[in-house]
Parts: sequence; C-alpha cells; structure tokens
Amino acid sequence: MCGIMGYVGKENAVEIILSGLEELEYRGYDSSGIAFENNNSFNIIKTVGSPVKLRYKTEPLFSTIGIGHTRWATHGTANETNAHPHKSSSGLFTIVHNGIIENYNELKDILIESGVQFNSETDTEVIAQLLENKYNGDFKGTVISVLPMLSGSYALGIVCSDYPDTLICAKKSSPLFVGTSDTGNYLSSDISAISRKSDRIFRLNDFEIGIITKDSFKVFDLDGCRIRKSEIKIKSQDNSTDKQGFEHYMLKEIYEQPDAIRHTLSEIIDGKKIRFRSLKWSKKEIKEINSVIFVACGSAYHAGLAGSYACEEFFKRTSKAETASEFRYKQPKIDKNTLVVIISQSGETADTLAALRIAKQKGAKIISIVNVENSTIALESDCVVLTKAGKEIAVATTKAYTAQLAVIYSLIIYLSVISEEMDKKKGAMLIDELKSLPNKIEAMLRDDEKNSEISDIILKSNYACFIGRNYDYCSSLEGSLKLKEISYIPCEAYPAGELKHGTISLIDTESVIIALNHSERLRDKITSNIKEVEARGGKTITIAPEGISADINIPYATDFLSPILSAIPLQLIAYHTAVKKGCEIDKPRNLAKSVTVE
Ligand code: G6P
Repeated sequence: MCGIMGYVGKENAVEIILSGLEELEYRGYDSSGIAFENNNSFNIIKTVGSPVKLRYKTEPLFSTIGIGHTRWATHGTANETNAHPHKSSSGLFTIVHNGIIENYNELKDILIESGVQFNSETDTEVIAQLLENKYNGDFKGTVISVLPMLSGSYALGIVCSDYPDTLICAKKSSPLFVGTSDTGNYLSSDISAISRKSDRIFRLNDFEIGIITKDSFKVFDLDGCRIRKSEIKIKSQDNSTDKQGFEHYMLKEIYEQPDAIRHTLSEIIDGKKIRFRSLKWSKKEIKEINSVIFVACGSAYHAGLAGSYACEEFFKRTSKAETASEFRYKQPKIDKNTLVVIISQSGETADTLAALRIAKQKGAKIISIVNVENSTIALESDCVVLTKAGKEIAVATTKAYTAQLAVIYSLIIYLSVISEEMDKKKGAMLIDELKSLPNKIEAMLRDDEKNSEISDIILKSNYACFIGRNYDYCSSLEGSLKLKEISYIPCEAYPAGELKHGTISLIDTESVIIALNHSERLRDKITSNIKEVEARGGKTITIAPEGISADINIPYATDFLSPILSAIPLQLIAYHTAVKKGCEIDKPRNLAKSVTVE
C-alpha cells in the first residue's frame, strides 16, 4: 500500500515523479504529494486525492531530484497535513514512507519530551523527526543509526537539504526497487513504474540502504559495509494502460477473461498433458503429501477455498483454505508433507508474503500462484506458477481471480493423476473441459442484458445475500465481495444450509437473495433454501446451468470448474449495480489494489 517514487538525474524529476505516481495510484489514492529540490532545500506540494490532482498544482516546475508518494491512509485521516512527504521540524529531512511503524507512539513520546513538535498524525513523521534528532552531519550514518529503532515495516525514500544531490532509500518488509540509466536513477515501490525508463533494475533487501545520486547507486548494510547487488532480469511486461474503448478498466478486464485463462493454460497444458515447469517433486514426494493448505487474501482466498474443496474431492487429501492474516498468527501444523499453495495477484500482499515465509520456515512444500512476475512473492518462492492474466488495473479483481482458479484446477488434476487418485482418462477429460471454458465465457459475455436487469432489483433492495453449497458457496463469497467492494451495498455470502441458523431473520420483502444453483447433486437442497426465502417474502435470483429454470442460465460445467463460469454474471451484476449507483468503479473508496501493510 502507498506508492513511492523518487528520481535523481539530468531530467525533470517533477515530471518523472508525477507520471510514476500516476502509475502507482493503484496502491492508494486518498492523497498524494511530491518534494523536489529548489535552491538547496526541498519544497513540498500535496493534495487530497490522486496524483492526477497533484499535477494541476505543480506545473511547470523543474528540479533534478525529488521524491513522491501516493497514500492509502493508515495513521491519520486523508488530509493534506497527513499526506506525504513529511519534513522534520527544521526542514532538514524530507521523507516518504510505505508501511507501518508499530512503535511510533513510544518514539513520538520520547521526541515530544525532548521538545520536538509534531505536525501530523502519522507514524511516518516520527522517522523524519528521529533523523533530525540523531543527525551528526553524516546523512548515511544517521539513517543507519535510526533504522534499528523502528519496528514494523517500511520502504523509505529520504532526502536531506545538506545533501541536495543524494537520495537515500531503505526497506524492511515493504518492497522497494531502484532503476538505473544514463540519464538518471529511479526509486519506486513497484517495478512497473520504472521498468520502461531503467536500463537495470535492482531489488533492495530488508535492512539494505541504497545511496542514489545522478550517476551512482551504492548499497550498504546496517554496519555501513558495501553490498554488491545483482540486477533483476525482467521479462516482457504487459504494461498496457489503454481502456480500449471500455468505459472502465474493470469492464475491460471482465471481457479479457477468456484470453487470460487461455494464456494461463497454454503455459501449463500441452495437448492433454499438464506440466508445471517449476515443480520439481518426484511422484513419491507427491504421493507423500498428506494435506493441502491454500493461503491468500480477498478474492484469491475465495479461489483457494474452491481449491480446497476440489483437493478433497479429487486429490483425496485433507485440505483447507486460510486467510493469510489469520494463518500467520496461528500455530499452523505444517511439515514437509504439507503442500501450501500461496495465491496472490499482486505478489505483494503483506499477509500472504508473511504466510509464505512461515511455510518456508516450517519446511512445507510450497507452490505460489502469482500474476506479477517480479513481485516479492514470486521472487521469494522456489516454485512459482504465473497466471498470465496481464496487468490488472481495476482494484476489484476479475481476470486474475478466474486465472487463479484455472491454475488451481490444473494443479489439482495434475496432483491427482500423478498420485493415481484420478485415472488418466478422467484427467484428460477434465483438462479438455477446462480448456473449453474460455469459449463458454465468450458466449456468456455476448449476452449481458439480464445481469443489468438484476442490478435494478439489487438497487431496490436494502439487503443482499449470496447463497450456495460447496463450490457454489465459494462463488457466493466472491459475488458478495465484488458487489460490496464497488457498489458499497451491504451484503454477505452464506452457505445455503446455514441460512436458517440466524441470517434468515434478516429476510423481508426488501431483501434479495442471489442463489447459485449449479450442482445437480445439491439442486434439491438449494431449491428448498430458495423456497424458504420466498416463503418469507424475500426476492430471489437464481443462477443455474442451461436447461434449469433460473433467472440467469450459465453453460454447464463439472461442479468443481463451475466457479470460473459463475464468476462472470456475478462480476457483471456488481459492475452494473455500481455504475447505476454512480460509484467510482476502478478505484472504490478506501481500497487499494496492492495491500502491503497488515
Ligand atoms: C485487495 C484487492 C483484492 C484482492 C486482495 C488480495 O484487497 O482489492 O481484489 O483480492 O487484495 O490481493 P492479492 O494481490 O494478494 O491477490
């Protein structure tokens, strides 16, 4: 969360930082700010709102060094005072920060006692004030002395008016990259903002300090010793930011799902054979796996939950899905025979990354499913399977989610066949069906009228609940999340059979229940639950396969594959509802695409 950008070089830092921040906006957009050198001191310009607004306040300015920030508020409301960059009292130090300083209150009290006056409510200002407090004339030495005092997470860009041509950066737990080129050097919390401009890109590790000037980049450890860094190899990146005629990125990304799944599967499926290039376990090791845990956040968790049902059904191993924020603070029972599947679109989600590190420490077998190739999770995982969904810009995920499901299903078929829990013929049949899903989605996307009609019903209701059983329950969770994320309508998802244990008391004539009824095996059960809602005056909307009486019919798929198809109307219903309500579709309030704080 929060985007950091910095530049020092021959070109205009102000323009470079502003365009970088616009690319990083998905990390937070409640306020933004820039600091740039002017006559040996650093001027600051801030605004409430996105970096696009900042641009109107800053043109036309020229400077060759600066830092910028786009904020997702943690400590202190989203106003100009709390927006970064933050200065120390005398203006000597100016900093931008991504992360949370967990002991900031303690440090703040000590500083206040020594006479320091604080300007903002942020945890970040503590760092600026500490730097000034500990300053001994040596910029690098002062940063080195302050970092060990901070607990929590940070990615920092720091400038000092005594060193107007130097930018210092440091990190712990939050990502930070430096790009170098003949015309200048860049700092960013995401490769995507600097990859096109840089000739070489370096990833900072925790507790490393980078000293950047216009023609040099040097890295040191906390003892002040020089560290030699290797550049990261960047493969071709899809950085397209064109809406291609769609009104919103979210809609464009919904329509990109057939190709996202095709590209993803083409890396994994060769004819009728599934191959995971990075997976090196022998048949014996796969057979020895005795449990599978899917760990993720948000929609990726819903994909993992569907995976856990499928694992038990086909791979016949105990399986569960855990939200990463819970998993990391439990005492998870994991050993070398546990398979942990880490799922993340961004590859940067702080909790998911922490879960990966815990699973590694405990010696589990790990597979990470990630959409962003050079993300921290991808770089820290031995076995990475990439979803090839392309760059996802809308905060509410769509194509990355269905691409995650496609990888998870391929993985389960693969493990089941190798371990002889599934015969090869059945495996081949399921692979064929998986490959047929993109065409089915294309057909579904040709007829969107009904989804829009249903959004009218939701808009007239005061409560919405998504219900389903088994795989349909996983889809319900995703349908509810999509709707609440972008339309702000209070809604929830429930296992259909649980409705009568409390939630049914909410049902009245103003409520709407969206019932997913895909499974033939469970159809009578869910039909009874629908009747129970109707008997209490609630409106119901059913989504079921072709040939079954329902408000929306979707193509038939084997139960475990159905979440990929069910996602389409659920995404479109949420989209139309939010558009009609006049909501900000691609950047819903209070959310961020990459959640790098816990
Ligand atoms: C945020 C996004 C969600 C996403 C979740 C997990 O909350 O808004 O769309 O599902 O993070 O993100 P990840 O990048 O780890 O998949």
